[in-house]
Amino acid sequence: MTTKNTIAVLGLIGAGFLGALSTATFVAAQDAKPELANKLDPNAKELDEPVLKAATAAKEEDGKYTDKDGHPTFRITNDGKKVDWYTYSGYRRYHAECHVCHGPDGMGSTYAPALKDSLKRLSYEEFYGILAGGRQNHTAGNESVMPAFGDNKNVMCYANDLYVYLRARASGAWGRARPGEKEDKPETVKKEEKECLGG
Ligand code: HEC
Repeated sequence: MTTKNTIAVLGLIGAGFLGALSTATFVAAQDAKPELANKLDPNAKELDEPVLKAATAAKEEDGKYTDKDGHPTFRITNDGKKVDWYTYSGYRRYHAECHVCHGPDGMGSTYAPALKDSLKRLSYEEFYGILAGGRQNHTAGNESVMPAFGDNKNVMCYANDLYVYLRARASGAWGRARPGEKEDKPETVKKEEKECLGG
């Protein structure tokens, strides 16, 4: 074999190797998506496709899921039965702090709006702003007050949890049920919770 030929053969092997490598990278990239995708209950009702799409997790960091804009979001696995930690925690916080006015499961009441609908249009920043600063509506014959929770650690330390749970409700990814199966409480959450509540 001449040197020229050897180089040509090596070149071919190299090309084949690179080809195999890029296929592997491609497969890995494809695999990453289903891992973050929501596996919804096939019987899930009231799915809101645009809200669901916007809420798709793009990144995971120690049990914390964020969408493509970096806002907190949920992840549902095991055919719609298992929730991430934030959705579970948000469910509990909601029913401790909000449901007296906003009704069970974000369904609304005669006094306060259904947050499962509000979260279809409110951005993360708007939600956070209303939660911290409150909102009042004093129109004729209407005395509607959303309290400001800015100084309440039992609420503000769990603002993301509340947002994630209500976002899951708004998208229809999670129904009215109390979450059963859940992901473990992430170490980062334990640390942040302690700092937030204690500080
Ligand atoms: C004392 C009753 C009360 C409690 C408790 C309460 N809210 Fe509200 N909330 C209201 C009322 C009333 C409104 C509507 C205010 C208005 O008309 O502008 C409202 C409005 C809101 C809105 C805006 C909804 C929209 O459609 O624009 C958000 C978001 C919200 N509340 C979140 C929460 C969360 C989260 C909690 C629990 C931490 C909570 N609220 C607890 C009474 C309450």
